[in-house]
Amino acid sequence: MSKPALRVALLHSVVRREEKLLAAALEARAGVECVLLDDRELSFDPAQAAADYDAVLARSVSSSRNVAARRLFEAAGVRCFNPASVGAVCNDKLETSLALLRAGVAHPDLRIAFTEESALEAMEEMGYPVVLKPIVGSWGRLIARATDSDSARSLLEHKAALPGFQHHIFYIQRYVEKHGRDIRSFVAGDRCIAAIVRTSSDWRTNTARGAVAANYPVSPELEAVSVAAARAVGGGILAVDLFESEDGFLVNEVNDTMEFKNSIEPTGVDIPDAVARYVVDQLRAVRAA
Ligand SMILES: Nc1ncnc2c1ncn2[C@@H]1O[C@H](COP(=O)(O)OP(=O)(O)O)[C@@H](O)[C@H]1O
Ligand SMILES: [Mg+2]
Repeated sequence: MSKPALRVALLHSVVRREEKLLAAALEARAGVECVLLDDRELSFDPAQAAADYDAVLARSVSSSRNVAARRLFEAAGVRCFNPASVGAVCNDKLETSLALLRAGVAHPDLRIAFTEESALEAMEEMGYPVVLKPIVGSWGRLIARATDSDSARSLLEHKAALPGFQHHIFYIQRYVEKHGRDIRSFVAGDRCIAAIVRTSSDWRTNTARGAVAANYPVSPELEAVSVAAARAVGGGILAVDLFESEDGFLVNEVNDTMEFKNSIEPTGVDIPDAVARYVVDQLRAVRAA
């Protein structure tokens, strides 16, 4: 008798190239059905929770929606990749930092302050340049670098004038001299499947800002730190941002719902296939148990 099919729902907003590749990689596996679920068409009645899927692979563009939907699916007994709790940690830079520090993963020097005055004091103590980041955000948006007291003061003043409590928690990192490049590694479970080096003339090396990606060999050191960082936030399918420093890698952040379209060609690694394999192996391991 053939095994019942595994139904994996791919939760998305728009279907980008990444979602197409992931859906195809899931469908390519024997006994796996991939159902596309548009988050704009969903509504939930949490009191009537019923599980129609064996798993949800969360790929919504909106990070808050992506976590809320996973919480609802998990409440209905559906396994999510990554779990909602992992998404919640990764969406919040403060939570991510705390998780990394708790796990003993090397992380850039960090200060948190709640007023312009205390933030300025922390920056002066740390020494310039420093980087100010919104706790929630991605693609390098609203991340700013202060090179001296003057620029620090005006940045703080601008942030304080922004609406939203998120901007009034000042997340301050020491600027890491990274010579125009940083590393992004891709983790699935306890394996680092690929890594790229991102080079840019902008100090923010997000590929969304035009940084160019090239293959970066996965050394045992990179694998160990990447897997440790992924585990620190709860584990799963994650992209880890790292800086090279004289003392080894510093983990800057860990990204849930990773973007990988610019990384397949330079690394030569079929990232969507590795993700699909991880999801299916995890589900089959539970079924077999
Ligand atoms: N402390 C830092 N030192 C040097 N560069 C940094 C630092 N923090 C961030 N950057 C640069 O800014 C980019 C965006 O910052 P990041 O923390 O990854 O936020 P986002 O979630 O927006 O990607 C990073 O990829 C890196 O190039
Ligand atoms: Mg980043």
